[in-house]
Amino acid sequence: MSDQQPEIYKGLAGVPVDYTAISKVNPETNSLLYRGYPVQDLAAAVTFEEVAYLLWHGELPNDEELAEFEQVERAHRHLDPVVKRVIDELPTTAHPMDVVRTAVSAIGARDDEAADDSPEAELRKAKRLFAAIPAVVAYDQRRRRGLDLVEPRDDLGYSANFLFMTFDEVPELPVVDAFDVSMILYAEHSFNASTFTARVITSTLSDLHSAVVGAIAALKGPLHGGANEAVMHTFDEIGEAANVSAWLDDALAQKRKIMGFGHRVYKHGDSRVPTMKTALDSLVGYYERPDILDLYNALADEFVARKGIHPNLDYPSGPAYHLIGFDTELFTPIFVASRVVGWTAHIMEQRASNALIRPLSVYNGVDQREVPAREPVE
Ligand code: ACO
Repeated sequence: MSDQQPEIYKGLAGVPVDYTAISKVNPETNSLLYRGYPVQDLAAAVTFEEVAYLLWHGELPNDEELAEFEQVERAHRHLDPVVKRVIDELPTTAHPMDVVRTAVSAIGARDDEAADDSPEAELRKAKRLFAAIPAVVAYDQRRRRGLDLVEPRDDLGYSANFLFMTFDEVPELPVVDAFDVSMILYAEHSFNASTFTARVITSTLSDLHSAVVGAIAALKGPLHGGANEAVMHTFDEIGEAANVSAWLDDALAQKRKIMGFGHRVYKHGDSRVPTMKTALDSLVGYYERPDILDLYNALADEFVARKGIHPNLDYPSGPAYHLIGFDTELFTPIFVASRVVGWTAHIMEQRASNALIRPLSVYNGVDQREVPAREPVE
């Protein structure tokens, strides 16, 4: 046997595993393209519905295509009564990510086309799931506050309706705009951990809903999507801007990870942060909460100065969702509602040119040995 050990790519860091035409992350220029369009330009010019269409179809919709898609989306916004019953069986102490994961599983089990993996059926399922998730998240937020389900309104766009179903009032434009921007920015990010999970599951020829359930499980972790809620816990812990230095001394002495900072791919700043920071600024103005901005700036400035590690998208989105009125635990399910677009686009891309994803491992356990003999039992 050769002593030469194969090289290990821990965490698959820096390893390209396949092609994708859906998005391009460029760490050198801190840029992110969706189907060739810079994400910040999309956020300034189009709605989340148009971005979803773009990510699935490869092109922005014309007026007729958009109207057709909006009709489908609006027709599937209602919470299926059976899925509602499933949610109602879960304790309100369950983490909302567990609730949305369970709900998507139930939605898949009730989808007549669940087993049809033709490209047409996959696209229809993706659009129905996209339309259905806001009702799950909004209802879960409400039941935690002892409130009833709010039925969707089909005269509102996706984001306005999402907020309407959550808070039972039609949101004002600055709030809708900021929320819509966050949904656009979260929608897709190449082979991140949850998307890769969805592709691994799809590579076994499993179905779309199963792949999304797995992706939700991967997103839950605080090193990935769970960071947006962890940012808010950090803000709560620090309290106010004046406490940042002392808090940071302590956190760094304990070798804690500061949530909302750092990124596997971007090492000089996350391309999505400036756009989301502008959306946060507008919410801070709208809700008259300069204290949030003071804390945001104090922690970012001091952590970047001390460690050279920059904020990622979860850093501005956490306080943005807090200002809009969501409970902290609901932040990552909002990420699900957005990223389901990227996941399903990748599921379709994986299926279109599939190869089973099955890497190798290098064994470093004990050498082969004999099972010890046992005395026969009397
Ligand atoms: N706080 C403190 N130190 C950090 C942080 C952080 N947020 N991020 C990186 N570092 C340090 C590490 O401790 C490590 O230091 P060392 O070399 O002295 O051991 C060094 O920077 C390299 O960090 P790694 O964790 O090895 O980098 P990796 O690429 O594996 O991690 C990750 C990226 C997981 C995102 C990391 O930066 C992190 O844990 N951040 C906090 C969680 C977070 O915000 N996640 C959201 C990701 S973006 C998203 O999902 C939208």
